[in-house]
Amino acid sequence: MRFLCSPFSTLALLVASLSSLSNAQSGVGIRLKQIKNLVTFGDSYTDVGPGYSSNGGTPWPIYTAGYAGVKLFPYAKGGATCSNELTYRPFPPLFGSQLPKYFEEKGSLDLQPEETIYTLWIGTNDVGSNALLTGNPGTKASLVAVTDCMVNWVKVLYESDVRNFIFQNMIPLETVPIYAPVSWPNKFWTAERNSTEWSVFMRELVLSGNELTKLKLEALAPKLPGAHIALFDSHSLFADMYSNPGSYLNGTAPVNVTGAIDTCYYEVGATSPRSCVKVEGDANRDSYLWYDELHPSEQADRIVAREIAEVIEGKENRWTSWIS
Ligand SMILES: *[C@@H]1O[C@H](CO)[C@@H](O)[C@H](O)[C@H]1NC(C)=O
Ligand SMILES: *[C@@H]1O[C@H](CO)[C@@H](O)[C@H](O)[C@H]1NC(C)=O
Ligand SMILES: *[C@@H]1O[C@H](CO)[C@@H](O)[C@H](O)[C@H]1NC(C)=O
Repeated sequence: MRFLCSPFSTLALLVASLSSLSNAQSGVGIRLKQIKNLVTFGDSYTDVGPGYSSNGGTPWPIYTAGYAGVKLFPYAKGGATCSNELTYRPFPPLFGSQLPKYFEEKGSLDLQPEETIYTLWIGTNDVGSNALLTGNPGTKASLVAVTDCMVNWVKVLYESDVRNFIFQNMIPLETVPIYAPVSWPNKFWTAERNSTEWSVFMRELVLSGNELTKLKLEALAPKLPGAHIALFDSHSLFADMYSNPGSYLNGTAPVNVTGAIDTCYYEVGATSPRSCVKVEGDANRDSYLWYDELHPSEQADRIVAREIAEVIEGKENRWTSWIS
């Protein structure tokens, strides 16, 4: 008894009980098994088709839905930016297309706020070529405006009673073949360019953009009572896959984080490729980090799916911090 009442043991008990508090008990995050539905927004990284997959195989949301045992409601579309009023591209943007479609359909979907989580993974096209990186004729977009737009996704959905969010930040795009220092003219860009400068500028856009969205989400969260907002650090996850590929890439070929499974080489300014190379066989493909010059591979996406599934199940996750 005397031992149990000593200041040391009281402190030890307090520490033990604090660290055993689950997310839900502390009012932050979600409970185990709370989530039954997953609603996804974003660009090609998250698009599930029909008839299209940016990794040449199964996209991550389909894996996640399977891993976590939840129902998928996919709204992400390839080529999307946050808003075509900021960075115009001829694809269905988040604002102006994906959100309107969701609001139109939501009445006929059984999505209880408590049981449903919403994800957004966007920015690759907003900061990319033909947008912030190279300038976007006719618009005056900035990283400030684009990150406002991304964070506004939380606000707009919250106002329609959505409560659970996962915000996936941008990956280190300066390591993706199209934006890497050592690059080549490819199907996404054949014009003359200085790939060293592209890579340097891209790194700045991604790091600054991710810091801006984090700070803006932290400032927004206290104004949204009852909301649970997770920041999923895709940037650190992909940086780790790039530096420690052996921990993630499990194919039979040597691990490869600089090339791509499906790539074509162009001459500068050419409209058709000089040559194309496609890595055949799932066992070889799973050694690659990138599917093509712009997109993660299916194995990279399985890793994303596994990590997001863990968050959805209400477990602790190495790449995730709950802001509220
Ligand atoms: C590309 O840009 C880098 C950094 O500004 C510069 O050092 C290099 O000389 C440029 N390369 C070419 C071919 O212009
Ligand atoms: C990575 O893959 C590309 C495309 O298949 C290939 O050209 C390149 O040599 C590979 N790099 C390494 C380091 O194996
Ligand atoms: C690599 O691991 C994934 C699970 O992350 C598995 O589905 C896939 O079949 C594995 N690939 C190979 C070639 O073993």
